[in-house]
Amino acid sequence: MLALKVEFHYAQKALDYTRKDQLLLPNYLFVKDSRFLYLPVSKKFKPLFPASFVQKTFPAKRERLTFEQKLLQERILTPKELDTYFVSSFDVAGSVAILEIMPELQEKEKAIAQALLQLHPNLTTVAKKATATKGKYRIRTLQIITGKRTLVTRYKENGCLFDLNLNEAFFSPRLSFERSRIAHLAKPKENVLALFAGAGFYPIVLSKLQPSTQHIVAIELNPKAVKWMKHNVKLNKMENKIEVIQGDAKPILRSPRFRRFADRIIMPLPHSAFEFLDAALPAAKKGCTIHFYYIPSSPHVDAIQEAKQLVLNACQRRLRKCRFIYSHVVKTYSPHVDEVVLDVKLLN
Ligand SMILES: C[S@@+](CC[C@H](N)C(=O)[O-])C[C@H]1O[C@@H](n2cnc3c(N)ncnc32)[C@H](O)[C@@H]1O
Repeated sequence: MLALKVEFHYAQKALDYTRKDQLLLPNYLFVKDSRFLYLPVSKKFKPLFPASFVQKTFPAKRERLTFEQKLLQERILTPKELDTYFVSSFDVAGSVAILEIMPELQEKEKAIAQALLQLHPNLTTVAKKATATKGKYRIRTLQIITGKRTLVTRYKENGCLFDLNLNEAFFSPRLSFERSRIAHLAKPKENVLALFAGAGFYPIVLSKLQPSTQHIVAIELNPKAVKWMKHNVKLNKMENKIEVIQGDAKPILRSPRFRRFADRIIMPLPHSAFEFLDAALPAAKKGCTIHFYYIPSSPHVDAIQEAKQLVLNACQRRLRKCRFIYSHVVKTYSPHVDEVVLDVKLLN
């Protein structure tokens, strides 16, 4: 192959020049000896620096295979299986990958998981979703397929660290944008009520991105999630800012200390947050923003319209006036059902 031979002193010049004029062949590695660098080039040209042309052999660059390519290349899946049953997207929680394995591929799940571990050496465990997200604690059971036998992991998001056991607390990396969106809306000196706070994702991200908040109260029912949230509050050095309360948000919010307490209330319990509006509204100051999450119980409905109606009904019952300042689809929950969020400003 044709090679441009340059002394190391001119290496950067040669690289810039050959890249700019698209003379450098991209699929080969460079070769060097004690004095010279050899670049694979497509044709001879007149260099603007001391150099010459010689013949050399260049090793081809090893391209990183995609997950699908690896499964096909190693004959783990047939093209038909790949097209029909394979779910290529997966979540990553620190060192744990979470796959969705269709029943038709169950016998091959170990080989699939091992292929993923080989592709991503930073992963130590591959698990699969074994149930839907369910129950009052909104947990999805995961089953380890291969790798280290632990679902305790450290996950980084929005500049914060979170430790958790994925089978003990709700976890969704797909909400990371939503958490940062809300944190960026928070203003200095706010009192925040982070309801349904799980392992602490919303309050901790908010406190990180808006460190001048006055006080954040995080309420969570699941004792194991609360254990992780307290750990994560410490891990992120936010003990002075975030107060963690374990229990049912409804009676807790009735405490007189929360009357007209909050400048911001976060309600990420999308199937049933509406049942908590009557308890949350008295805790809202005039001007408070409520982030209200909602998943409708039936498909093909206008989720945003339904959510607005639920908020309006609750405001009417509690003699509060409100304005809808923002709404959007957070994620697809199932075919034809979206999770939505409303940002609601209280006017009185
Ligand atoms: C959808 S998860 C959201 C968790 C967290 N905000 C996150 O983003 O990871 C809802 C959480 O609400 C909690 N929860 C359910 N009912 C509750 C209640 N009555 N009071 C307080 N928390 C509750 C569940 O245990 C669960 O952790």
